[in-house]
Amino acid sequence: MLLLPGTQQETIDYMKKLYTIKNSKKHGKGLFAKCNIKAGSNIVEYVGKKITKAQSDKIAEIQLKKAQKNKDEGQVYIFTLNDKYDIDGNVSHNKARLMNHSCNPNCDTDIIDGKIWIRSFVDIRKGDELTYDYGFSFDAEDFRDHVCKCGSRKCVGFIVTESDWKKLQKHLLRFIKNCKKAN
Ligand SMILES: C[S@@+](CC[C@H](N)C(=O)[O-])C[C@H]1O[C@@H](n2cnc3c(N)ncnc32)[C@H](O)[C@@H]1O
Ligand SMILES: [Zn+2]
Repeated sequence: MLLLPGTQQETIDYMKKLYTIKNSKKHGKGLFAKCNIKAGSNIVEYVGKKITKAQSDKIAEIQLKKAQKNKDEGQVYIFTLNDKYDIDGNVSHNKARLMNHSCNPNCDTDIIDGKIWIRSFVDIRKGDELTYDYGFSFDAEDFRDHVCKCGSRKCVGFIVTESDWKKLQKHLLRFIKNCKKAN
């Protein structure tokens, strides 16, 4: 007797999944813990097309142009694999592409045998949104295009990787100082 639609293998795969997809307060859809997850668990593989850095730059440029026209479109799903190749995760079977960024994330990434895994680095409670640090470097020209709505107490307001928070802070302080001088 089939209790769920789909093949038996699909049912088994579904039951093994540690996450579920729901609307997120941060942005669009997100991944949420389906059960309590122990620190150090591989949760989902970031899958997609293996592309060269040159292909990657082209895709990012096109997607960013789309995003400037329509904020709901043009998300970039490119993930660095190594010095030569990236993974373009913009394929529907790549559920990891829906994970949002947080300034206080509960997951990070690990590359094992050429595969990108999203892994919990703290214990996660059932229902919590799964997030990671997108690793965006601070860029004075375009950081304003990536406003962060992670809602965490540590939020710095923009999607900038934690190792660049000092650069962001310096830039914002300089900006405030200049504004004060001008008034
Ligand atoms: C790869 S998508 C993530 C999935 C997205 N929520 C969706 O439904 O398609 C990446 C985009 O999600 C948005 N995003 C992710 N984390 C965010 C956050 N903390 N605050 C605001 N927007 C976020 C940004 O627009 C980013 O370019
Ligand atoms: Zn944030």
